[in-house]
Amino acid sequence: MEQELLEIIKRRRSTRAFEDRPVPRAALEKLLEAAIWAPSGSNSQSWLFTAILNRQVIDRINALIRQGFQTWIPDDDYPAKQGAKKSSGREDFHFCNHAPALIIASNRPNYENAMADCSLALENIFLLAESMGLGSCYINSPHWLRDDGPLRDYLFTLGIPREHTICSSAAIGYIAKPSVPPARREGVCNIIE
Ligand SMILES: Cc1cc2nc3c(=O)[nH]c(=O)nc-3n(C[C@H](O)[C@H](O)[C@H](O)COP(=O)(O)O)c2cc1C
Repeated sequence: MEQELLEIIKRRRSTRAFEDRPVPRAALEKLLEAAIWAPSGSNSQSWLFTAILNRQVIDRINALIRQGFQTWIPDDDYPAKQGAKKSSGREDFHFCNHAPALIIASNRPNYENAMADCSLALENIFLLAESMGLGSCYINSPHWLRDDGPLRDYLFTLGIPREHTICSSAAIGYIAKPSVPPARREGVCNIIE
């Protein structure tokens, strides 16, 4: 059992090219079940997972993200932020690489474990997705643009409370092009006996 789980952990990759094929609702429901069984600080379970299987809705979010990036000023020098802002100007930009399913994880405001809880839930989703033959990818742009007015107005219509912080999101779909496993950095684990 542990060997099987370790294999799944090692096999999971961030997918950035998805098939057109839709993700069945039953599969999404399983992924959400995995999410809500993640640990949470003081057992808060204050997260909200909004799963979107509707391409038009995902494309609408993409349009709002592209628009939001135009006026967004990154609050630090993390290169991926500059890169995303720049590439969002391209006509072919799609924030979740046209994934047919998206799960947005949000959480209550002013809760210091909001990101940690949602990230642990997302990893549950990623690993279960891998075991089900689905690809997945952590998508940061909804988090970066969490204070963007038009985006939040639209997310509100999808049931995401205005006061919630958008923590993270997951693109889900069948893998069109497998990603190459990045090499592991060495010397990052110590065992003290
Ligand atoms: C906090 C976090 C944010 C990430 N944001 C993005 C993102 O916005 N877009 C993306 O394509 N990948 C994103 N990733 C995926 C990483 O790029 C990926 O995990 C890393 O390159 C290692 O590849 P692997 O997941 O295939 O092992 C993110 C991963 C983490 C943990």
